[in-house]
Amino acid sequence: MTETPAHYGGEPIRADVLGYGGQSITDAEREAVVEALDGDYITRGPTVERFEERVADLVGVDHAVATTSGTTALHLCGRAADFGEGDEVITTPLTFASTAHVASYTGATPVFADIDPKTRTLDPDAVRERITDDTAGLVPMHYAGHPADIDELLDVADEHDLTVIWDACHAIGGTYRGEPIGAQRDMAVFSFHPVKNITTAEGGMIVTDDDHLAERLRSLRSFEMDYAPAGHEDEPWFQVTEGLGYNYNITDLQAALGLAQLDRLDQFKARRDEILAQYREAFADVPGVEMPVVKDHTDPMFHLCAVEIHADEFGCDRKTFVNAMHAENIGVQVHYVPLHHHPYFQNEFGYSDDEFPVTNRVYSRLVSLPLFPEMTETDVGQVIEAVTGLQSYHASNAEH
Ligand SMILES: Cc1ncc(COP(=O)(O)O)c(C=O)c1O
Repeated sequence: MTETPAHYGGEPIRADVLGYGGQSITDAEREAVVEALDGDYITRGPTVERFEERVADLVGVDHAVATTSGTTALHLCGRAADFGEGDEVITTPLTFASTAHVASYTGATPVFADIDPKTRTLDPDAVRERITDDTAGLVPMHYAGHPADIDELLDVADEHDLTVIWDACHAIGGTYRGEPIGAQRDMAVFSFHPVKNITTAEGGMIVTDDDHLAERLRSLRSFEMDYAPAGHEDEPWFQVTEGLGYNYNITDLQAALGLAQLDRLDQFKARRDEILAQYREAFADVPGVEMPVVKDHTDPMFHLCAVEIHADEFGCDRKTFVNAMHAENIGVQVHYVPLHHHPYFQNEFGYSDDEFPVTNRVYSRLVSLPLFPEMTETDVGQVIEAVTGLQSYHASNAEH
């Protein structure tokens, strides 16, 4: 006898809500932040520099520039790339709005191209179709942590002399052809929001090998000021604003947290891989649950476990699935409502819901199952029980 799912009147599998993601904080993080609090700097100081060096080393690039968030890091990349009015920047519609704001913040136009249905990242052929004389850049996103088609996208960029900004907000800790994600030209951005692979509460980081871009990013991050302009050596107070910069300075407190998290990156990846393996095994025989692919030449650090629910096989559509999981107190989420469905992109850039058929089809089935290092075996078991129970309930009802 199949238990009745909570959505159909049964008892919820859990009493408290399990989120889809979340941070892991131990005494190591607590001690690091308290130690930073007692230092001379509590805003951007030497701990931020150490954090930047550690990330640059991890990725294998010359420069890392820390900022207040993934969003502000992306903004700085758009400025450093000199995107502006009249420019078109091609990106994916299946992402968070900040990815496209690389273009919108600078006055450029975000141009969406459809996705590869397996990796759910930008399809290089679709990108080629969207290239015009005004195309200035590409902003591919490594969806859920799985790398985009980096080789092909770099080929497109070379063919048309485009600046590439990788939105790697989901993807720190993974590799592509043995090379760390983020190492690819021209710039890549990580987010350290609490649901991401490591956290600084809020925070972001740009990595690049380009000396000129790094200098520009650092200047823009901090007011675009020259603190010691030439010709004013005898006027030590003399600082000048050279352009429209920002205060996107991250603090030493956050950097201390980030350093402690980096110490645990391998542990986090191992736990995420373990949970994914348990899901793969459990759902292998459940009709209508499509797990994320892993391309041969990649070793992603999955930030999300985004599955697709095929209604005809599973027995209910994605909407019912989400509501049924919520009834069990399992906080699944959908990543993302595609950007061409949002009023901002429709009103400003003329997009409409019915464009990008591959994205729309994938979106109609997408659900992110809980995936984060602090999940217990009980938590994982309950997610599996909720998904398998829902499918078998539909299957047994269909028989009667
Ligand atoms: C793909 C993607 N890009 C950018 C961002 C923005 O990052 P942040 O929240 O650190 O500003 C997010 C985070 O939510 C994201 O998922």
